[in-house]
Amino acid sequence: MPSLSVFGAQWGDEGKGKIIDLLARDADVVVRYQGGSNAGHTVIVGEDKYVLHLIPSGILHPGKVNVVGNGVALDPLTFMDEVDGLRERGIPVEPENLRLSTSAHVILDHHRKLDGLAETWLGGGRIGTTGRGIGPCYADKASRTGLRVSELLEPGRCRERLSAALLEKNALFAGVHEAEGLELEEQVEKYVAVGERLRPFVCDTGAYLRGAHAEGKSLLFEGAQGVMLDIDHGTYPYVTSSSTGANGIPSGAGFPAKHVDRLIGIAKAYCTRVGEGPFPSEEHGEAGERLGRKGHEFGATTGRPRRCGWFDSVAVRYALDLNGADGWIMTKLDVLDSFEKICVGTSYKVEGEESLTYPVGCADLNAVEVQYEELPGWQEDITAIRKYEELPAATRAYVEWVEERVGAPIVMLSVGPERDQVIPRGL
Ligand code: GDP
Ligand code: IMO
Ligand code: MG
Repeated sequence: MPSLSVFGAQWGDEGKGKIIDLLARDADVVVRYQGGSNAGHTVIVGEDKYVLHLIPSGILHPGKVNVVGNGVALDPLTFMDEVDGLRERGIPVEPENLRLSTSAHVILDHHRKLDGLAETWLGGGRIGTTGRGIGPCYADKASRTGLRVSELLEPGRCRERLSAALLEKNALFAGVHEAEGLELEEQVEKYVAVGERLRPFVCDTGAYLRGAHAEGKSLLFEGAQGVMLDIDHGTYPYVTSSSTGANGIPSGAGFPAKHVDRLIGIAKAYCTRVGEGPFPSEEHGEAGERLGRKGHEFGATTGRPRRCGWFDSVAVRYALDLNGADGWIMTKLDVLDSFEKICVGTSYKVEGEESLTYPVGCADLNAVEVQYEELPGWQEDITAIRKYEELPAATRAYVEWVEERVGAPIVMLSVGPERDQVIPRGL
């Protein structure tokens, strides 16, 4: 298999975990390069359900190397909990199959605390974050005040950096948020201890990945979140704090962009969003409620109900185009099985003007009016179908119609949460 980038082309939760787990069979190395434990990637294997937050979704396949790159905001406590949880379930997690970048920034208690306080501070303007400390950690990275994994491995350095960080953060907690500060020695002890547990996994993952590529190994880059949540290209400020598409790979993995051979987006056959922020094709009525119910749309990380709406071809086209996608995978097609009519957003009306282009810089995306076309449903269970030609004619008509609107080939369909519930279409 060539080296592949697989990323979310909507607002997250597109089914990346399931697809990465499937594609990992043909890869040698699976890599996370951005985001942190805000991600919740679900993999279903028979009766077993795994929700992965930091560890790449290739971990369930023996013999694959899983890499957490330098661009990940690493909560070391969650990381070790995840390692322990997988081991308890009989999944081998050892330095042979899991490597962690020495340069990844670390999410500390003060980041999580600040995430919550900042949301309260914002009140009605809150982002609706996952509360995992992602924004504050990346803010410190950019401010050059963060701690990296390497620093947790050196107690003296850890104390020095933590002391400087807490001096500032405790002043902020007390002065602005009227909240209690954190105690330095307690924090040093806690993070040096977890650093010792991280140590066996830590290495220069960029060098490892470049070497693996030079040896002819195939790499699979697992995006977290989705392009519409990208810090630069998403619905700012209602975004996460990293580069969520293939654009995040070179810096977040320490791997040259030119060695990523194929880029594949993932989008559901409808659309969801968790947290606050504009969602042009959101359905507030019965259709939205029904999509949520049929699709079991509850956050894999926070359990929050996801907002639901129809497929938005303007947003998906933008996300794929932005990343130069070679094609995309449509997931959760089976969720539409019982619908009599299916709507698809085809264009936006922005200040009275119809547009096929996503309006970057639009001051009020909530005011955008989505124009829809309605297609007939198929009202048949498609979850057991494995060949494209065997799908009902109305399903194929829907797929091909959406594909044409989006303007990029659909290379696979997913028709259920299980590993084998896919219909190949050229990937
Ligand atoms: P991710 O964050 O992109 O990995 O997606 P999540 O795991 O947060 O959410 C996707 C949910 O949909 C999970 O519960 C998956 O098990 C489930 N899922 C994935 N693909 C399909 C599919 O094709 N059909 C159905 N019905 N469920 C799916
Ligand atoms: P996966 O990888 C869906 C959303 C949050 C919030 C915004 C910022 O499972 O697709 P953050 O905690 O990142 O500062 O929150 O981003 N968000 C996600 N939504 N899926 C995710 O990950 C998400 N990760 C963050 O709900 O709106
Ligand atoms: Mg998710």
